[in-house]
Amino acid sequence: MLDLIGAMAFRTAGTAQRLGLFEVLGAGPQSAAGVAAKLGLPAGTLTVLLDALVSFGYLRKAGDLYTAGPAASPWLDRNAGGGFAPALAVWHELLGELWQGLEESVRAGRPPEPFYPWLERDPDRVRDFQAMLAGLAWMLAPAVVEAAPKIGGGSLLDVGGGHAIYSIAFCRAAPELTATVIDLPGALSQGRAHVEEAGLAERIQLVPGDLADHIDGRHDAALLFNVVHGLDPEAAADLVARTARALRPGGVLLVLEPFADPPEGTGAHDAAFLGGFSLNLAATQGGRLYTFDEIAGWAAAAGLGGIERLALSAPGTDELLVARREAQ
Ligand SMILES: C[S@@+](CC[C@H](N)C(=O)[O-])C[C@H]1O[C@@H](n2cnc3c(N)ncnc32)[C@H](O)[C@@H]1O
Repeated sequence: MLDLIGAMAFRTAGTAQRLGLFEVLGAGPQSAAGVAAKLGLPAGTLTVLLDALVSFGYLRKAGDLYTAGPAASPWLDRNAGGGFAPALAVWHELLGELWQGLEESVRAGRPPEPFYPWLERDPDRVRDFQAMLAGLAWMLAPAVVEAAPKIGGGSLLDVGGGHAIYSIAFCRAAPELTATVIDLPGALSQGRAHVEEAGLAERIQLVPGDLADHIDGRHDAALLFNVVHGLDPEAAADLVARTARALRPGGVLLVLEPFADPPEGTGAHDAAFLGGFSLNLAATQGGRLYTFDEIAGWAAAAGLGGIERLALSAPGTDELLVARREAQ
């Protein structure tokens, strides 16, 4: 029953967001007729939706007036920061659209269509996807830089670095460092804005391209952050190998992912999310979460050594795998 109610609450919130309801109520209390007039919608079903949002805890109702609770505004109100708005929009589309093909994906053993072209086809979709990841990255980046081996200077390759937040964080920590971010064009448009805002356009280069054929150079460090889990095992091992080859001797590979074998003590909530997330990766991207040992094995096969697993001093389930190319 809890799962059923959760699914209903999630779909209701996602629909309310698409209708623009959280921005209307974020501006102040409204009657159902007032919300209907503002959104240009008939009041009938909308009133039932508003009442459902009250029962799920998003809104409050006093007399005829509906008020946004904190989950609705600021968290889902884009005019008030909307910290969770991109994540709701992305997951609502994923579960509402791509998961329609879940049964077919399981039967066929692969997703019905390639995920990133689907994402890049719609500028709003890719904007929300990158904004969701950027929100996480702003939160994790200080802990990632703190946990990673010190990268003093030289050049950093950020493979699938999209929003560029991790490159920005490493460049801020090392004034001599320059970075190259490789990603698809839609993903990089947000990266460009972040790099310019950070005043790092001279040091961070954004290269539109496909990961299948754009990884080269002799870098001091390379980031594979949340990229490996979007690929099947063969493509993931190949990406690790090609990224390893783009390191100069003594260079370091950093892989940031939630591993399929999270540390002991991982809470039930995090473990349940990871199970669903891995299924989402399999069904929509043809990837899945991998264990630390699987990724470490690909790094070792690519000739890297000194492989370590590092925890982050930040909330969440992401961990770091560090591997080094031997200095000659
Ligand atoms: C899950 S996101 C991770 C973004 C960032 N590294 C992070 O950790 O927040 C995966 C990234 O890989 C990029 N990507 C996926 N397939 C790609 C491809 N074939 N070529 C270039 N970039 C790709 C996506 O656009 C996206 O930015």
